[in-house]
Amino acid sequence: MSWQTFPKIELHLHHEGAAPPDLIRRLAKEKSINLSGVFAEDGSYGFDDFTRFLRVYEAATSVLKTPEDYARLTTAILENGAEQGVIYTETFLSPDFCGGGDLGAWREYLEAIREAAAAVERAHGIVMRGIVTCIRHFGPYTARQTARCAADTAGDWIVGFGMGGDESMGKQGDFAWSFDCAREAGLKLTTHAGEFAGPDSIRQALDDLRVERIGHGVRAIEDAAIVKRLAETGVVLEVCPGSNVALGLYPDLRAHPIAKLRQAGVKVTVSTDDPPFFRTSMKQEYAGLEQAFDWTPEDFAALNRTALDAAFCDAKTKKRLEGKLKARTKL
Ligand code: HPA
Ligand code: ZN
Repeated sequence: MSWQTFPKIELHLHHEGAAPPDLIRRLAKEKSINLSGVFAEDGSYGFDDFTRFLRVYEAATSVLKTPEDYARLTTAILENGAEQGVIYTETFLSPDFCGGGDLGAWREYLEAIREAAAAVERAHGIVMRGIVTCIRHFGPYTARQTARCAADTAGDWIVGFGMGGDESMGKQGDFAWSFDCAREAGLKLTTHAGEFAGPDSIRQALDDLRVERIGHGVRAIEDAAIVKRLAETGVVLEVCPGSNVALGLYPDLRAHPIAKLRQAGVKVTVSTDDPPFFRTSMKQEYAGLEQAFDWTPEDFAALNRTALDAAFCDAKTKKRLEGKLKARTKL
C-alpha cells in the first residue's frame, strides 16, 4: 500500500523539530550564524543520544530569530505535511523560542505563524492548531511565564498546553501551577512522559498535572497497572514509533510496544515528533507499522478516528475533518 494519499491526523510534532535542515542552513547563512556541530556529513542533523539531540535542536533553533522566520518555517512544515497526506496537525509552539517568553513578542510570532498556516490551508487544505509548550529543563519558573503566554492567547487556534524537554529534570508535579493556569484558561493538556522516564512518570502526569493526553507514554508497557489505568480512563498516547527507535528506546519497530498497548485497549495515535531529526515522515511511519504489525488501512483509519476524537480543536473543526477522513478513506 502506498500511504501517500491516505488521510492522516498528527498530534505530536515539535515546530522547530520539524524544520527542514536546508531551511536552517539557509537562515544561518543569511544571518551569518555558525552552526558547526549541528549537521552530520550527509547534511542531516547530527547527534547520537537524547542529550545531544536536545543540544543540536536548540542550536538549530537559534537561527529562528524573527516572526518572519517562523512564518517561513510554518509554511515549510505544512507544505511538507500536506505532501504526506496530513489533513490536520497540532504542533508544539514554544514562547521561550518565540520572543523569549515576552507576551507582546509571543503575540507577534503567533500572528505570523497563524497567517502562514492560513495561507497553506487555503492552498492545500491542511489544518493546523497550536499547543503552547513549556520546556522542562528550563525549569518551573520559566514554565509559569510560558503558561501565562498560553493562557493569554488561548482560543480556537491555541488549543492546548504541554511540556517537552528533558524528562530527567525535576518532577511532573513541579509544573502543576503552569498546567493549572492553562486548564483554567480552557486549554487541553498533554505532557511528555514515559519516554525516557519509566511508567511512574505517567502516573505522576495523570495525578499531578491531570493531562488528557500523554506524549509518548510507551514505557507504560512496563507496568500492568498503568496500562490498565490508561485503558480504563481513555487517556490517549501520542506515540512516535520512529522517534523511539531513532533514540534507541527500542532496537526496531517490531520490538516497539505500540501494538501491545493497542491490544490492551489503550488509545494510541501515530506521529513523527521531530521528523528530519529522526529521518522519518508520516508516510514512513505508516509503512513501517504496516510491515511490522500487518496493520491494514482499516487499522490506520481507526487510529485516525482515535486521533480525531483526541484532537484539541473545537467540534466544528472536527466535523469538517471527519468528513474529509470519510471521503478519502471510504472506511
Ligand atoms: N522529546 C522531548 N522534548 C523535545 C523533543 C522530543 O522529542 N523534541 C523537542 N523537544
Ligand atoms: Zn516530543
